[in-house]
Amino acid sequence: MTSSNLIPSLWDNSKASTLDEPGLLLYRSNLLGSDLRITNYGGGNTSAKVAMTDPLTKQSVEVLWVKGSGGDIGSMELDGFATLYMDKLAALKDLYKSRGQEDEMVHNLNHCTFNLNSRAASIDTCLHGYVPYAHVDHVHADAVIAIAAAKDSERLTKKVFGGEMGYLPWQRPGIDLGIKLGRMAAEHPEYVGVVLGSHGLFTWAKTAKDCYDTTLRIINKAAAWLEANAKKPAFGGEAVAGLKADAREAVALRLMPEIRGRISKSEMKVGHFTDAPEVLEFVNSRMLGELAPLGTSCPDHFLRTKIRPLIVSHDASAAALDQLIADYGDGYSAYYERCKHVNSPKMRDPNAVIYLIPQVGMISFAKDKATARVAAEFYVNAINVMRGASGVSTYVGLPEQEAFNIEYWLLEEAKLRRMPKAKDLAGRIAFITGGAGGIGSASAARLLGEGACVALADIDQASLDDAVAKFGAAFGKDNVRGFLMDVTQENHVIKAMDDTALAFGGVDILVNNAGITLAANIEDTTLDLWNKNISILATGYFLVGREGYRLMKRQGMGGSMIFIASKNAIAASPGASAYCTAKAAEVHLARCMALEGAPTGIRVNVVNPDAVLRGSKIWQGEWRQQRAASNKIAEDELEEHYRKRSLLQRSVFPEDIAEAVFFFASERSSKSTGNFLNVDAGNAVSFSR
Ligand SMILES: NC(=O)c1ccc[n+]([C@@H]2O[C@H](COP(=O)([O-])OP(=O)(O)OC[C@H]3O[C@@H](n4cnc5c(N)ncnc54)[C@H](O)[C@@H]3O)[C@@H](O)[C@H]2O)c1
Ligand SMILES: [Zn+2]
Repeated sequence: MTSSNLIPSLWDNSKASTLDEPGLLLYRSNLLGSDLRITNYGGGNTSAKVAMTDPLTKQSVEVLWVKGSGGDIGSMELDGFATLYMDKLAALKDLYKSRGQEDEMVHNLNHCTFNLNSRAASIDTCLHGYVPYAHVDHVHADAVIAIAAAKDSERLTKKVFGGEMGYLPWQRPGIDLGIKLGRMAAEHPEYVGVVLGSHGLFTWAKTAKDCYDTTLRIINKAAAWLEANAKKPAFGGEAVAGLKADAREAVALRLMPEIRGRISKSEMKVGHFTDAPEVLEFVNSRMLGELAPLGTSCPDHFLRTKIRPLIVSHDASAAALDQLIADYGDGYSAYYERCKHVNSPKMRDPNAVIYLIPQVGMISFAKDKATARVAAEFYVNAINVMRGASGVSTYVGLPEQEAFNIEYWLLEEAKLRRMPKAKDLAGRIAFITGGAGGIGSASAARLLGEGACVALADIDQASLDDAVAKFGAAFGKDNVRGFLMDVTQENHVIKAMDDTALAFGGVDILVNNAGITLAANIEDTTLDLWNKNISILATGYFLVGREGYRLMKRQGMGGSMIFIASKNAIAASPGASAYCTAKAAEVHLARCMALEGAPTGIRVNVVNPDAVLRGSKIWQGEWRQQRAASNKIAEDELEEHYRKRSLLQRSVFPEDIAEAVFFFASERSSKSTGNFLNVDAGNAVSFSR
C-alpha cells in the first residue's frame, strides 16, 4: 500500500487548543466525515462524555454528547448532537430484561435528555454510552466492513489487528448490543475498539485526539492488510470490456428515461448515472453475477440501495426491460412475504434503486436527485466492501431476515410517517429555456420550491452561472443544472435535452420561454430582424418543443409543456409585427402539439404575460426606450403606465407568471391542454375568444 492511499491525519493542534470538549467532538466528527473512506454519507456517529452543569440543580453531571438521529458527521453542527444524562442512561440497563424491549428502550432514551435538547437520540446511543471511555467513534469504513463482511470475519479480525480489536457478531444496534460492547471494552483494557460483524467499527480513547488517531490508524491498518493480501485481479478479472466513454453515455441516455418511466408509477423518481472506474471494474467483472445478488452488508448501505441491485444488459429492448422490472418486483414481493411479521408495515415500492449495466456503469433512482446520488455513493462503498472481502475470503451479505427487520422496522416506519408530505413537483424534472432571464428564473424558483429538479438552458453564460449558483445555494446543488445553448441551433437543443436526461433521468416539464424583442415599424423591419424574431421565438420553440416531446414520449409518463407567449400573440400591436407574428406562431404551435400529445398524456399550454418589467432583460434594452418613446413618456414612468393601462390597475411581476407556470406544470391542471392563460392584470384586447 502506498502512503498516498493512507488516510492522512488532518488534526490541527493549534485549532484544537482553542476548543472546549463539545467543540473538540464536533471538530473530530467533521474531520472524520470529510473522507468517504472513513464513513459513508450520514453513516456512523461520534460521542464524548463531558462534565456539565445541570441547568436546574447547578450540580456537575456527566453528559453524553452523541450524534443524534439523522444528519451526517461530516457536515453536522453542534445542534446535531443529542445530549443525555449518563446516570439515567446507565439506569436503563436495570430496566432492560429481554430483547423484546429494544423498541421500548429507544423511547426511554427520551427520558434521559439533558437540557431539553430537542435532537432525538439514535439507536446507537447505548453503544456509545456504555463504553467506559470518554471518547467513542463509530464509522462505516469500507476497509473494515470488508473484514466484517467476510465469511470468517472473526478470524480475520484477529489476524489483521492482533490483540487490539475485539469482535462482536452481527446484531441490530440497540441496548442489547450496547451492553455487550460496554462489557467487552471493560473486560479487555487492551482493546482500542471492536469490529462489528457485517457492520463497521467502534473505537475509543481517553481524549478526542487519541480517539481520532485510533480510528484512522485502525482503518489504515485494515486497508493496508487487504491491499497486501488480496487475490489479484479483483473480482476474478474482466469478463467483458467496457464500452468507450461516449458509447457508455449513449446507453445511459437511452436507458434512463425508459427505466424511469417504468418505475415511477407509484412515486416519481430522479436518476443518477456514474461510470466511475470502481463501478466499471465491478460491472465488467467475472464475479458480478455471483456477488450482486448477495446484496450489501452494512445496514446503512442496504437501507439506501435496497435489498439487491438489478442487472440490465446495455442493449436491453423495451420488452426485456418490462420483463426485468416485473421480475425484480415479483422477487421483492416474495422477499416481503417470506420475511414479514404479523405487525410489519405494508410493502413499499418494489422497484430496484440500483441498476448495474455491464460495459456501461450504474444508474440509481430515488425520490430526489440527492437521494439517487447518495444511493450510488453507497453502492460504491458496497463495491469496495465486496472487493475487499472477496479478495481475502468469501463475501457474505446481511442475512435476508435481518435485512428485512431493518427495512421494515416499526421505528423506521414511524420515522417515514413523520416525514412531511411530498411536495407537488417532487421527483419531477423541468427544462426551462431562457432560464437565466427574468420570467425564466422566477419560474425556476417556483418549480424548485415545489420540489422539482430544474435544468436552466440559456445563451447567456454569465447570467446562467449566476442563476445556477443562486439556485444551488437556495435549493441544493443537486437539483439545478445549467446548459449553455442557443434555441435556434438544432444540435444545441438536442445536446441540452440529452444532458438533462443524463443529469436527472428524463424530463416532465418543459418551459419554452427564451426570448428577445426586436421591434420596428413594418417598413423598417429588415429581413434580418424578421428572421431573428422568427428563429428564436417560433423556430426555437419548435426545436425545443420537439426534443422535449420526443423525450417525454420515450419515458411514457406524459408531461407538461408551457409556452411563454405574450399578450402580443393574441392582440396585434403597432411597431412589432415580427415579434407579434412569431408569438402568434408559438400559440398555434402549442395547440397543434396539444392535439398530437394528448393520446400520450403530453399537455401543452400557454401563458401570456404582459409588461413584466422587473427582472426582465428585455426591458433593460432598446425595447424599453422604444416603448417609452412610442408612449411619449419617460422610461421610469413605464411601470406606472402599464399598471394604469391594465384593467385591474396592477403591475405584473415575474412571480405572477411563475405561478401560472407552476399551475400548468403540476397535476392541478391535469385536465387542461391547448389552453392559454393571460397574466396581464386584465387587458380586453387579449381576452380569449
Ligand atoms: N417581460 C415581459 O414584459 C414579457 C411580456 C410578454 C412576453 N414575454 C416573454 O417572456 C419570455 C421571457 O422574457 P423575460 O422578460 O424574462 O426576458 P429576459 O430577457 O429577462 O429573459 C429571456 C432569456 O432568454 C435568453 N435567450 C435569448 N435568446 C436566446 C437563445 N437564442 N437561446 C437561448 N436563450 C436565449 C436570454 O439570455 C434571457 O436570459 C420571452 O419569451 C418574452 O417574449 C415577456
Ligand atoms: Zn453503524
